Amino acid sequence: MGGQDLQSGVVSDLARIGITVPNDLLGEFDELISGKDYPSRSEAFRDLIRDALIERAVSAGNEEVVGTLTLVYDHHARQLNDRLTGMQHDHHTQIITTVHVHLDHHNCLEVIILRGKRADVQKIADRLIAVKGVRHGKLTVTKAEAH
Ligand code: NI
Repeated sequence: MGGQDLQSGVVSDLARIGITVPNDLLGEFDELISGKDYPSRSEAFRDLIRDALIERAVSAGNEEVVGTLTLVYDHHARQLNDRLTGMQHDHHTQIITTVHVHLDHHNCLEVIILRGKRADVQKIADRLIAVKGVRHGKLTVTKAEAH
């Protein structure tokens, strides 16, 4: 949808909209974005809209997505390393790469990048997070194909 820039007469692909927001909500929003170095409030709004659209697109199970799974676990836990590695081999077609960081004497951090259908990526992540000894796990998903 295009908009007409009245001053220059040039048709742009930007639309100008006006929205009504309660003052306190806007105040909180400004506070939120002030820490994020947005060049303008508009850019922050655009990011929110894109986020919501990506969220909707990736929530369909058949959508091709890229996922980043972060795991923190205690490598002293019995056979945990072997179990996690074995499970990753089970899904070698979806797992692109794994980065392992030895956080301290006990804890390991693993970031696993996956690609595939949303439902499959979620299932693999759920399996890995559910392994006993995994202290924290979080999957972030984004769209795989370009717009
Ligand atoms: Ni380690």
